[in-house]
Amino acid sequence: MKLWKEDVITAMERDPAARSFWEVYFTYNGVKALRMHRRANKLYRRGHYFWARKIASRCVRLTGIDIHPAATIGRRCFIDHGVGVVVGETTVIGDDVLIYQGVTLGGTGKDTGKRHPTVEDRVMISAGAKVLGPITISHDSKIGAGSVVLKDVPPFSTVVGVPGRVVKTNNVRVADLDQVHIPDPILEELRRLNDRIYTLEKEAGVHACRYTITCDSQEVPATTDADEDK
Ligand SMILES: CC(C)(COP(=O)(O)OP(=O)(O)OC[C@H]1O[C@@H](n2cnc3c(N)ncnc32)[C@H](O)[C@@H]1OP(=O)(O)O)[C@@H](O)C(=O)NCCC(=O)NCCS
Repeated sequence: MKLWKEDVITAMERDPAARSFWEVYFTYNGVKALRMHRRANKLYRRGHYFWARKIASRCVRLTGIDIHPAATIGRRCFIDHGVGVVVGETTVIGDDVLIYQGVTLGGTGKDTGKRHPTVEDRVMISAGAKVLGPITISHDSKIGAGSVVLKDVPPFSTVVGVPGRVVKTNNVRVADLDQVHIPDPILEELRRLNDRIYTLEKEAGVHACRYTITCDSQEVPATTDADEDK
């Protein structure tokens, strides 16, 4: 199937408001922008940078969508509404990606070379989200509206907030970390070891160990040097 036809069919499948093939073809800014980007990208790859940029800038005027001609965009991408979408030069977008209005796939200004995001297959980037830097949004993830994402996102995750954090993975809510009572893994491990030693000593009928950490659950009294000397 021709790519432009595939774009129209994708838009019809994803947008319940879409009524007819030709309505989508002629009036959907996202579909129009992808058509223009493909032409610009072809010219860019052949070294016709000026004409590529000319098409890209015309695309901004007509649709409000700014895609750098060098950006790589996969198949069946759908840019819904589209206005205010910006896609940077070294961005790579996979297949079946859904992008809403106001999304920026941009650089942080700190990187050189590959400085824009890689968006893998079946990712959804909600309205107004900013994805910045040479990070990877792994496949089947969702970026919440208005989020600012600065770090890699694992597959099948939902990221929300500023800065973006993973709130769901594989559709399961990620437990919030208590910022006040932050767990101390080393202390936890020492407690577990202490617990085991106490159990072993109890079974052996000896108490040779000095308890520096109490096992609260068993109310173990701390032994003293005097106890040990006995
Ligand atoms: C992120 C989103 C895609 C939902 O993904 P989801 O995996 O179904 O996640 P949930 O709805 O279960 O939300 C998970 C948590 O994130 C929170 N959350 C969801 N979207 C959020 C957002 N944009 N900003 C901040 N928090 C958000 C939810 O309140 C929920 O928090 P809780 O568990 O404390 O209640 C959706 O909320 C979203 O942002 N959609 C926007 C779509 C869009 O751009 N539409 C424009 C059409 S024009």
